Parts: sequence; C-alpha cells; structure tokens
Amino acid sequence: MNKSFILSTGSYLPKKTLSNDEIALKVETSDEWIRQRTGITQRHIADEGELTSDLAVNAAKNAIEKAKILMDEIDLIIVATTTPDKTLPSCATIVQSKLKCVNAFAFDVQAACSGFIYAVTVADSLIKSNNRIKYALVIGAEIMSRIVDWEDRSTCVLFGDGAGAMVIKSATHFNEITENPTRGIISTNLYSDGNVDILCTNGGISSTGDPGKICMNGREVFKHAVDKLTASVRETLKCNDLKIADIDWLVPHQANIRIIEAVVKKLNLSMKKVINTVDKHANTSAASIPIALDNATQESKIKPGSFGLLIAIGAGLTWGSVLLCY
Ligand code: ACO
Repeated sequence: MNKSFILSTGSYLPKKTLSNDEIALKVETSDEWIRQRTGITQRHIADEGELTSDLAVNAAKNAIEKAKILMDEIDLIIVATTTPDKTLPSCATIVQSKLKCVNAFAFDVQAACSGFIYAVTVADSLIKSNNRIKYALVIGAEIMSRIVDWEDRSTCVLFGDGAGAMVIKSATHFNEITENPTRGIISTNLYSDGNVDILCTNGGISSTGDPGKICMNGREVFKHAVDKLTASVRETLKCNDLKIADIDWLVPHQANIRIIEAVVKKLNLSMKKVINTVDKHANTSAASIPIALDNATQESKIKPGSFGLLIAIGAGLTWGSVLLCY
C-alpha cells in the first residue's frame, strides 16, 4: 500500500509577545498563578493587519524551503483552523493563492485544537487512496487572540497566535519506502463525542452573525483532556502491538503543562520524551502540535527513524492521535 511520511516541518510566531505580567495589568491575575496553573510564560499576538493566512504562509514557506520542492509540486493543501480570514473562501485556498501553488487542491479542516491531527489523518488517507498526490502541505494556523474575551481572566491567559506546517510526501512516487521501510505515518485514530457546551464560543455565523468569544468550563475540560488523551494513546499502542517503552517521543497538544504531566504520569512515560513548548507560546489551538514538532526537530530532540505520537484534544470534544516513524 502507498505510504506517506513527513518530509519537513516549519513554523511561525508573530513578532509581538504578551507576557503574563502584561496581562496582569488588564485583568486580576498574576504571573505566578498563570505559571503554576498552566506553565505558560508568554504568548505571541498577531499584528492588527496580520491574518491567519499570513501566519500560515510564513510557516508553510519555512517547511517548503526545508523540503527543497517547488510551489507547483504541491498537490494538496489542508489548513486546520478555527479562526479563518473569511467565512468563504477557505483559508487553504487563500494560502494557495498567496503561495501560487497552482496545481494543488485546497480545503480547511475545523476540529478546534485537534485540527492538525484531523488534517494529517485526512492528508495521509488521501495520499494512500489517490496516486495523484505526491506532496501534501498540512498547516495548523490560528489567531486565537481575536476570539478571546480579554476581560475573562479564566480564558484570556491561556491562548496565543501562531502557525505550524508540514510537508508530507507520498512514498510510492519516490521508492523511498525501500530506503527505510518503517519510516512514515503508521496509524491514526480520531474521535469526537458531541460534548459541545464545555468549550465553545458564544456566537457564530448562523446564530449571532459574528464569531463570538471563547467560553470554557476549565475543570471539566481538564478532566476530559487527561482521560481521553490517555485512552487514545493506549488504544493506538494496542492496535499496533506496541508498548509505551517503544515510544521515543510524544508531541502533545500544547494547552497546559498540567494536562501534559497528568497524561504522561498515567501512561508511565518519562517526561524526558515529551516535547513541551507551551511556556513560550501558550495554546495556539490547531497550530500547537506543528509548532512544537518543528521546534523539536530543529533542536534534534526528534531524530530520523524514531517512533513517536502526536496527540490532541479540542472543542467538540474532538481528540485523536497519529503514530509515526519520523
Ligand atoms: N488568575 C487568577 N485567578 C484565576 C484565574 C486567573 N487567570 N482564572 C481563574 N482564577 C480563579 C478562579 O476564579 C477561582 O477562584 P475562586 O476559587 O475564588 O472561585 C480559582 O482561580 C480556581 O479556579 P479554577 O477554574 O478551579 O482553577 P483551575 O485550577 O481549574 O485552573 C485552568 C484553571 C488553568 C483553566 C484549568 O482548569 C485548566 O487548565 N483547564 C484546562 C483548560 C484548557 O487548557 N483549555 C484550553 C482549551 S481546550 C484544549 O486545548 C484542550
């Protein structure tokens, strides 16, 4: 069967940062509270004129440069986002236009913070079922600062803006599968449960006519996140006849260090194998996994031939995992 594997990664964070102390000037909170409860020290905030597609394009250019391919070689673009530039067209087609990827077909995926896991799963499935696709560009990009209620201290401290990208290559076209037969996306699993009220916006296009602001029951989300991420990893290991010791690295959705630590403890995995970047950029929703992955590959924390998992949970609730050999 055709196989897909990660060729390169890229990321982009807006230049402007917002520290915990700066937030404490606007709402009743403190650097100490935010660090202790979430592990976050700062977030990046997009400039007024900067759009989600701009962040996506910057991350994509970074990944494409490393992949050493041309824009017109890209056959598929998927953008995972909850904060697109416009209601229509899709952010992915705007990215296609800005990058001049004239031979691609492009669409968005919306699964909130799990969006990147969903998008990688769709790209992998399309590559496996469609011989036309040689290179797929998968992006997670968000400007969460525009749907955050900056007067709500229970949510505004948690989120940030950013984008991450990945070029996924089809093995069939290049015979690279013979070079390293284990390399590639091994399995993916996705879930949702229709639990739509514990994390949502208070508006939307067909309800209020504007996107609304984020509302969340933090304690409930925390509990579901720990249980569901742990169950998803266990299921993936079981389906692939693997043990937790076989996993070299884990890139979890970067929402909160306490969620990550609780999952890792339940799985009996060493924290040394876990990629953690949430302190630097807070929760960038669908962008968090590709940003963390790009950081880890740049710092050689993830080496070619190593086995790892990407795991995420988000509003919906949606969750899932991707098992791969890098
Ligand atoms: N600064 C100071 N105090 C605060 C703040 C703040 N920013 N926010 C809430 N508090 C107060 C509350 O008002 C409450 O005060 P009270 O006891 O007088 O009523 C107290 O702190 C405790 O509030 P809790 O909500 O119980 O605090 P908790 O320990 O649960 O931490 C947090 C809150 C960090 C949101 C936690 O529940 C959490 O991490 N939940 C997961 C949510 C998450 O990560 N969401 C991201 C999106 S979903 C996803 O990506 C998976």
